[in-house]
Amino acid sequence: MKRLGILTGGGDAPGLNAVIRSAVKTASNVYQCEVAGIEDGFDGLVQAERWRLLTPDNVRGILPRGGTILGAANRGNPFARKVERDGQTVVEDISHLVVEGFRRLELDGLIVVGGDGTLRIAHELHQKFNLPVVGVPKTIDNDLGGTDVTFGFDTALQTATDAFDKLHTTAESHHRVMVLELMGRDAGFITLHSGVAGGADIILIPEIPFEIERVCEKIVARDRVGRKFSLVAISEGAQPRGGEQVFSRAGDEIYTARLGGIGHKIGAMIERVTGKETRVTVLGHVQRGGKPSPFDRWLATRYGAGAVRLAAAGQWDHMVGLHGQRIEPVALAEALAVPKRVDPNGEPVRTAKGLGIVFGD
Ligand code: F6P
Repeated sequence: MKRLGILTGGGDAPGLNAVIRSAVKTASNVYQCEVAGIEDGFDGLVQAERWRLLTPDNVRGILPRGGTILGAANRGNPFARKVERDGQTVVEDISHLVVEGFRRLELDGLIVVGGDGTLRIAHELHQKFNLPVVGVPKTIDNDLGGTDVTFGFDTALQTATDAFDKLHTTAESHHRVMVLELMGRDAGFITLHSGVAGGADIILIPEIPFEIERVCEKIVARDRVGRKFSLVAISEGAQPRGGEQVFSRAGDEIYTARLGGIGHKIGAMIERVTGKETRVTVLGHVQRGGKPSPFDRWLATRYGAGAVRLAAAGQWDHMVGLHGQRIEPVALAEALAVPKRVDPNGEPVRTAKGLGIVFGD
C-alpha cells in the first residue's frame, strides 16, 4: 500500500477533519503510506488536478475545526450527472471518469467519508469496477445502519440541546409556546435525543405521525396547572397522521427534495387552536457547523485510523462501525440495506412517554 485517496462527500458534519487527520497520520506513521486528499467528493477524481498530498505536517491543527478541508460535493453523483449536450441538459453516467481519476493518481485504495448517499456511490463503484473502497460513516442525522452511531451526531445534539436550554428561559418569561424545527431528514434521532435532553414537552418525529389535537391538548393541560409555557421539538421530516411532509424545495432526478417548513405550519396551528402566543425557530445548518464535540473527535479519530487498517487488510467494500466500545468492519451492503430509524415502540420513546412527553399519537 503506497498511496491512499481520501474524499468527503454529501452534507458536512463536525468531525470530518478529525477523520482526515487521523487517516493521514495513521497511514504515514504505521504503514509509510501517502494520502492524496481529493477535493469536493467524487468531483475531485472526475476532474484532473483537484487533489493535494496530505502529510502529518499539513493536517496539523485541523482536529477541532468544523467542516472539511477537502470540500464536499454538492451531492454530486457520478452515476447520474447533469451535463449539457447540444444545448440540452441530459443526465449521464460518468462513473468511469472516477475510475480514470483513481488510476491517474495511482491510488491503491480510496477512503470515502460520507452518509448513505455517498457510501452507496462507493459501494456501486466497487460493484461495477471493483474499485477498492472503504467507508467511514458520517452524518448528523445518525440514520445509517451498521453502526451504533455516526460521527457528527453528538455535536448536532449538543447544539440542539443548547437551543432548547436557551428557548426554555425566554419561553418561561413570556408564557409562550416555542417550536424548534430540527434536521434529520426521515429520522427523528436529533429531535428525540435533544428534545429529551432539553426538556421538551412535545416531540414530533417522522417515525410517529402526529395529531395536532393531541399536541394542543398537552399545551392547554400545562396551561391549566400553571405551566404557562411549552417547548415543542419537531423534526423537519415529521408529518401529521394522514398528511404529508413539508418541503422547501422539490427534488428532481439528481437532487433529493429539501425538507423544511413544518415548524411554521405547526406553530400557526398551535396559536390558532390554543390561542397561546407561539414562536418558531428553525435551527438549520447551525446543527452541522462548528467544532466537533470531544466524543465526535474521539470517534472520528478512531474511524479514520480504522479505515486505514481496513485498506491495509484489503477489506474493500466495507466501512468502519462502532459496536458497543469496538470499531469493527461492516460490509457496505449490510450498512446500506436498511435505513436506521427511531423505533416508535423502543425504550427511548417509552422512557420519554413515561416522563409525560407527548408524541402526538
Ligand atoms: O443529511 C444531513 C442534512 O443536514 C439533513 O439533516 C438535512 O435535511 C440536509 O442535510 C440538508 O441538506 P443541504 O445541505 O442540502 O441543505
